[in-house]
Amino acid sequence: MARVLVLSNGFFVMEKQQLTIRYTTYEHISELPEEVQTLMAEAVKARENAYAVYSNFKVGAAVRLENGAICIGSNQENAAYPSGLCAERVAIYQASTQFPNETIQAIAISGTAKAPTDQPVSPCGACRQSLSEYEIRQKKAIPVYFMGACGKIIQTDSIKDLLPFLFDGSLL
Ligand code: THU
Repeated sequence: MARVLVLSNGFFVMEKQQLTIRYTTYEHISELPEEVQTLMAEAVKARENAYAVYSNFKVGAAVRLENGAICIGSNQENAAYPSGLCAERVAIYQASTQFPNETIQAIAISGTAKAPTDQPVSPCGACRQSLSEYEIRQKKAIPVYFMGACGKIIQTDSIKDLLPFLFDGSLL
């Protein structure tokens, strides 16, 4: 419950609360656990097949499932811009279509503009929301690893670290 602070002048304010998110940083793909290296390599490969003729920003994603399968996706753009789809959603929807009952173990993402960037590319808000649906459904956190073209990787243990106060179906 929020606490009320009473100021010396008799006014009161609601106490600000704080939420902490946790993440891990790896300096290079070679520092990742071996099977995550493989997953990130798949994301990088998928990135090459992005259809990103409008933004020239290519993103690849790879999802590893408990049965060992890896489902990939890349961003697919469209002349009617909102009709395109992000790499993460292409990958996760494909995983859920091909293997509806398999637990998702992790997702790796790599994105870059034409001039390669080593700044990690984090999933957009809509992708975070989409990913959260599967994490909640499977009742198991999904680690997210994201990278630029190469270089540093950021990892969260759960989508929830990327999307505090997420909207979920229990409210419906
Ligand atoms: N994009 C993704 O594929 N994933 C994200 O999380 C961020 C953005 C794509 C969408 C669009 O094709 C391009 O990157 C530029 O926004």
